[in-house]
Amino acid sequence: MTVFSIRWRQVTATFVLAFACTATAVAQERRAYAPPDLTSVRAVMAERGMVVAQERLAAQVGADILKQGGNAIDAAVATGFALAVTYPRAGNIGGGGFMVIHSAARNEDAAIDYRETAPAATTPDIFLGPDGKPDTDKSRNSALGIGVPGTVAGLALALEKYGSGRFTLAQILKPAIELARDGFAVTDDTADTLPDMYRRMARWPDSARTFSRSDGTALREGDRLIQAELAATLSAVAEQGPRGFYQGPVAEKLAKAVRDAGGIMTVDDLKSYEAVIRNPVRGTYRGYDIVSMPLPSSGGTVLLETLNILEGFPMPDMKQGSAPSLHVMIEAMKRAYADRARYLGDPAFVNAPADILISKDYATKLRGGIDLARATPAEALSAKPPREGSNTTHYSVVDSSGNAVSNTYTLNFSYGVGLVADGTGVLLNNELDDFTAAPGASNAFGLVGFEANLPGPGKRPLSSMSPTIVLKDGKPVLVTGSPGGSRIISAVLQVVVDVLDYKMDVAAAVAAPRLHHQWMPDVVRVEQGFPKETLDALREKGHHVIEPLGQTSANSIAVTPNGLLGAPDPRTRGAAAVGQ
Ligand code: GLY
Repeated sequence: MTVFSIRWRQVTATFVLAFACTATAVAQERRAYAPPDLTSVRAVMAERGMVVAQERLAAQVGADILKQGGNAIDAAVATGFALAVTYPRAGNIGGGGFMVIHSAARNEDAAIDYRETAPAATTPDIFLGPDGKPDTDKSRNSALGIGVPGTVAGLALALEKYGSGRFTLAQILKPAIELARDGFAVTDDTADTLPDMYRRMARWPDSARTFSRSDGTALREGDRLIQAELAATLSAVAEQGPRGFYQGPVAEKLAKAVRDAGGIMTVDDLKSYEAVIRNPVRGTYRGYDIVSMPLPSSGGTVLLETLNILEGFPMPDMKQGSAPSLHVMIEAMKRAYADRARYLGDPAFVNAPADILISKDYATKLRGGIDLARATPAEALSAKPPREGSNTTHYSVVDSSGNAVSNTYTLNFSYGVGLVADGTGVLLNNELDDFTAAPGASNAFGLVGFEANLPGPGKRPLSSMSPTIVLKDGKPVLVTGSPGGSRIISAVLQVVVDVLDYKMDVAAAVAAPRLHHQWMPDVVRVEQGFPKETLDALREKGHHVIEPLGQTSANSIAVTPNGLLGAPDPRTRGAAAVGQ
């Protein structure tokens, strides 16, 4: 218990720092989100296809591909490359992510893992200081935190395997290249977040050049952002495929920039990077199939574990947003996040009991430990083994043939580590902070981890990204996901529960206030918008309720008998649903 208490204090301190840090990095998250009157929220309607993404130009790029006869995967890949240009704080080719695909033509669900990998020279103690304690500066603010980027490989793989075949990679990349080459007007969101990035980039003054006015100050709203070097890098990919990024001059420049900045990534690390097609994690919830991301993202596993626990409670009979409904959700989150901390890691390195964690039997056992009247203290959930065993961006795409894509990708922090590799225009991630620097330590999102998620050569850090597709009778009914670090999974959970249990319109479900509990620290973070009496009732049950909760942006699509309903999240500026 002594060890546990020390860890608990460390965790609490880190969590406070983490939220401060995330809030600093993501200026827009400072704005309090007061949800609109949910009865007045309206989804955007379309009949033949839709892209809902965090930035309008990139959503339009995907919608144009749909219009030209492309399928959802073609459109998702085009939007992913376009966001790398138009939404530089999270859209990327210098980071990584996860894509869940429902292919109607093949009647198949697939997950593309394009998470960054640790360079081959990575050691388990890489993020420890001379005193043997975690040194967060190393993983968050230095080039040691840069993982080998996976986005180019992942998007190209998705197109090759699941695209319609009507478009070459070069055709899909054309709009992104044009946007980078010709420029576009900086949005309010980018303009407001650039100064934070500037502060982080101070170590690498050249990196700021891309985002600067001629007088050296940050670009402002309405200024034209031209990224000629990024256009050249994207053109190399258009001409040579992923080889144009992972080998040759671009790879050499990437590796040199990382090493010059004190990192350890080599051209060999880039050359050996591979995106992986995985079986999605699958489960059921009240007759719906839930298809989500498997390890090395914890997202799907934690989501299913939580939903399985909730399935045994009469959620539909409890009022949406009421204290009884929120109480069981918090208790379910707490238990599933505790398991995340203890067991989950890259499946290439760790034999995680994910199948057990998502089993209905295990959920029944956990449910039995939930007291409907009282919060269980987090310390009581010490994640005993079951027997046997800000930041990121999300977009959703659906086409007229019933194909669907749910994609979440990231540089980790807003604008990643802040290093633009010289001569490439590629802004690089600090994803390796998602490793656990030492057993019991936590990442920037306050997520505690243990041995399963220690750094290792070629290893993928555990993620929370949860791109998810909900199916009924084999057909998509909801495509959702979110950015937000540790809050991703709880955000997705609440959208799913609000749509499936409470039959909310998808736009209202996305707009509804959310809360979050991640086991450690033992606090419930809540957004504005919950009635005081509801929060008081939760406090009476013993929950430590704290405001505010950093915002997440669950850009979602519902497929209904009346057509497609797009729900750009109103929390963050710029999100758009473009349909046809
Ligand atoms: N970088 C946040 C995550 O992958 O969960």
